[in-house]
Formats: sequence, structure tokens, C-alpha cells
Amino acid sequence: MSETSAQAIEESPVVDRPAAVRLRDVGKTFRKRRRETTALEEVNLDIAAGEFLCLLGPSGCGKSTLLSILAGFIEADTGEVLMDDRPVTGPGPDRGVLFQTPTLFPWLTTRQNVLYGPRARRALTPEVREEAAELLETVGLAEFADAYPHELSGGMRHRAAFARVLINHPRVLLMDEPFGALDAITRAGMQRFLLELWQRRRTTIVFVTHDVEEATLLGDRVSVLSGRPGRTKAVVDIDLPRPRTYDDTETLAFVTAKRRIREVLEQ
Ligand SMILES: Nc1ncnc2c1ncn2[C@@H]1O[C@H](COP(=O)(O)OP(=O)(O)OP(=O)(O)O)[C@@H](O)[C@H]1O
Ligand SMILES: [Mg+2]
Repeated sequence: MSETSAQAIEESPVVDRPAAVRLRDVGKTFRKRRRETTALEEVNLDIAAGEFLCLLGPSGCGKSTLLSILAGFIEADTGEVLMDDRPVTGPGPDRGVLFQTPTLFPWLTTRQNVLYGPRARRALTPEVREEAAELLETVGLAEFADAYPHELSGGMRHRAAFARVLINHPRVLLMDEPFGALDAITRAGMQRFLLELWQRRRTTIVFVTHDVEEATLLGDRVSVLSGRPGRTKAVVDIDLPRPRTYDDTETLAFVTAKRRIREVLEQ
């Protein structure tokens, strides 16, 4: 994303003010008894407020580790992680995290799952309840508000987990291969949903995938990591018009962008 468009987003009167994220020389080595695994080494990345950034790289290159550091679940050994110039020191409601497997409490209904965050923060106002109802409508689960997770399909569980994150109005959404386990049709539906949502809210998104097509369809930029230890190999701009839909994947411009990313990945 260009600086001007990032600025325009910053200045526009949005409710959810997205945050800029900066990684400086981030490194992480896991030490278990005598084994040492350097997962990340000197990773540098500047993510503009409101940007949709995809993180792409081979299995084991440290993508999930990087996301966990951004989420504040684990600490980097070297370097720093900044959100709007403030260091990340732990997890917080300003960052919403979605994993490959949706995490819902099985003993709570869809609505109760969505309201879990506000309830935990003792912020369960009538307005929040109203918002939960609207969110369930948006993700197409209004009819399943009182259903339990085991009564939902895989895609529905993903949407419920999504609503549960969105009610907290995170300034950054961290997504770790969230659609990896879904079938092609459900996955395309979730991608469409995410694009529409981002178009509306302009939350900063860091989206991990190892699918080149998915990264090209979703991202403003794609950061390609090298094999372990992960380093930023290149950051590729995706200059395709927005809003994007799945139909765009057949255009020449799309195929060209995809090829460029694949070349970087294979270098
Ligand atoms: N808690 C941990 N303890 C020890 N080693 C770990 C831990 N978490 C990750 N690693 C190691 O760090 C490296 C990077 O792992 P990570 O899960 O971040 O990769 P990834 O890029 O997300 O891979 P994938 O695409 O398969 O999900 C791997 O070698 C892994 O074994
Ligand atoms: Mg991973």
C-alpha cells in the first residue's frame, strides 16, 4: 500500500483505528535440552495501518512463530516489535488472533462464544449485545446464535470464531492459515467474506498462508520468507485493483503477479 492511501485511511473517520506494526531485527531461537532451533533471524517488516499483508514461506520457516510474537504469546530473543511505536509486551485485545482450527468453547452457544470477550472484560452492555446480533447477521449465523459448536459446520465454526474476534474491535488481525483446512468452495466463501470485511473496516491484517494464489488475491503486499531460519526474502507489491473477487484470479494481471511471487519463493 502506498503511503498516501495509508494516510487517507488514518485520516478517515473509522471507528476501528487500525495500527501500524513494525518488526526490527526480530530473531527467535528455541532451546530444548541440547537442541537449538533458530526459527527467525533478523526479520524486518513495516506494516502500514490498514494494510493487508500476507506472509508466505515454506513449512517450518517460522511464520507461526512470527505471528505468536506479534500476538504477544511468545517473546522474541532479539529485536523489537512495535505497534504504533509502542513495544508489544504481551497479548492484548488490540490484536485479534485466528488460527487454522477455530477455537470455540464447546459448552457455549455461538452467541455466548461471541460475547465471551466483552463478558470477561465486564463490558457486557445492551449495545454490545446488539452488536453481537449484528455480527452474527453479518457472518450469516443469526439463525445459529443458540446452536452449540458441534452443531455447526467447519466453515460456520470459522465464521463464529471470526465474529468472536471482531466484537473486540482489534486494531490488528493476526490470521494463521485460517482457511487451510477448508474445502475449496467454503474457502472461497471465507476469502470473499474477509475481503468484504477488510474493505469495510480496514483493520490491519497479517495473514499467514503457503498458498500463492490466496496471498495474491488477498494482500496489498506479500512478504516472502526464506526457509529456516526465516528471513524476509522479498516483499512483493500486489498492484491489482480493489475490491477484488475470486473472478479476478483468472485475469492476466493476476496470473502475472502470482508468477512473480512464485519466482521469489523458488529463488
Ligand atoms: N515451541 C517450540 N519449541 C521448539 N521449537 C519450536 C517451537 N515452535 C516452533 N518451533 C520450531 O521453529 C521452527 C518454525 O516453526 P513454525 O511453526 O513457526 O513454522 P511455520 O512457518 O509456521 O511452518 P508451517 O508452514 O508448517 O506451519 C520449526 O523448526 C519448529 O520446529
Ligand atoms: Mg505454521
